[in-house]
Amino acid sequence: MIRRVIPAIAIAALLLSGHALAADIAAGKKIANQKCAGCHGAGGAGNGVMLQALNPSTPPVPWTSKSGMAAFTDADLTRIIAGGGAAIGKPPLMPAFKGQLSDAQIADVVAYIRSLGH
Ligand code: HEC
Repeated sequence: MIRRVIPAIAIAALLLSGHALAADIAAGKKIANQKCAGCHGAGGAGNGVMLQALNPSTPPVPWTSKSGMAAFTDADLTRIIAGGGAAIGKPPLMPAFKGQLSDAQIADVVAYIRSLGH
């Protein structure tokens, strides 16, 4: 019995970890270029044309800044993308994307943002 259970657990663990790794950076980049670059800039530099027009009192942290982005956990990033600035007590200039992006797409964008930090 135990000989059958252990491989089953190992396979389940492999499948689960594969699932966790499934966030797709390339897909996240495509979404970010379409929906975020207007404000966050190409490559997340934080200098999009729309942002300059909005002139926010607290500009976004450039996604390329690893130290700046370290202030946010992945859960924070997910929350702000889904719920907008208001979701983390910031001004609402950062729009909410819940309804426009699926949870999986938001996870892809978070993976892309994390891939930029250096
Ligand atoms: C209309 C402009 C606008 C668009 C479009 C926009 N954002 Fe933002 N975003 C902002 C502003 C402004 C802030 C800063 C909020 C604050 O700190 O007050 C921000 C903050 C953030 C933050 C918090 C970290 C940081 O950079 O300061 C994340 C993460 C983020 N946005 C992700 C996204 C993603 C992903 C998209 C596209 C799916 C997106 N945003 C589209 C304006 C925008």
